[in-house]
Amino acid sequence: MSQLTATRKVAIVGAGAVGSTIAYACQIHAVASTIALYDIDFAKVNAQVLDLRHGSMFAPPVTIVGGDRVAVCADADVVVITAGARQRPGQSRMALAGRNVALCHELVPRLLEVAPEAILLPVTNPVDVITTAVLEASGLPAHRVIGSGTVLDSSRLRALISERAGVGVPSVRAYIAGEHGDSAVPLWSGAYIGSVPVSDWVAGGVRVFTDQVRGDIARAVTAAAYEVIAGKGATNYAIGLAMAHLLEVILRDQRLILPVSSLVEDFHGITGTCMSLPRLVGRAGAGAVEPVVPAPEEIEQLRCSAAQITKACRDLRL
Ligand code: LAC
Repeated sequence: MSQLTATRKVAIVGAGAVGSTIAYACQIHAVASTIALYDIDFAKVNAQVLDLRHGSMFAPPVTIVGGDRVAVCADADVVVITAGARQRPGQSRMALAGRNVALCHELVPRLLEVAPEAILLPVTNPVDVITTAVLEASGLPAHRVIGSGTVLDSSRLRALISERAGVGVPSVRAYIAGEHGDSAVPLWSGAYIGSVPVSDWVAGGVRVFTDQVRGDIARAVTAAAYEVIAGKGATNYAIGLAMAHLLEVILRDQRLILPVSSLVEDFHGITGTCMSLPRLVGRAGAGAVEPVVPAPEEIEQLRCSAAQITKACRDLRL
């Protein structure tokens, strides 16, 4: 049986708001044949599994298992890592780095003991630093460690462009690159509505996406998580849908271009840093970065973003 039709197992480490919502989104979208939730808190992970199973009548068939032993992740095709401290209201993602890196250093070897062939998919923040730590702790080739990166940020960007232009999101193509965080970089030079560059979009004879509007949108994307966390304590629905989409692209080898966090090697002077660039994603994991040439100011912003990540990694001796 081909890899694409064999059983597809997704293991999710961390049964909190993000991990359980990723599981829920995978259930609804029939992403995997088996979803396994692993958390050290048995009562919590058991409750999440029961709650997901209780909806089975209304969703495509999927086996949902869980527990407080890492063995529940055995033979997973992809292991999603969501465990760790999460942002408090007003707290930056980078502030979580020390605690969450330490957790990954302890966790990754145990995961690979039970799932030696898995692709590892860090979501825990700061995800670019965590992706670096997971890559280092795993010893895996770079293509098998894919951070959630700016897939969610790019969805936020497309939604805002869609709202402003009055055009449905599927007709908007735009990427955020760099850090999944405060130094994220909108790639306006490669952003399109239909076949029209966003910067050239006009309504009533007037350019819609002026420098001011694009600046407002960029700030709204960067502020998005802070706004949601201030209101409800965590973000979970959008990251859950984003990761279900990424998992489907991997497990069904859809070979789409997505801005995932992965080791960058020689991109306009950026090298040795894990950050997001639009790259081919499929069953083998993170593929080549698309041969894009961003605008000069975007390249400079990407270099600054990479420097933020590199500094955080260096401070933690990664
Ligand atoms: C957010 C979290 C996933 O941006 O960092 O919602």
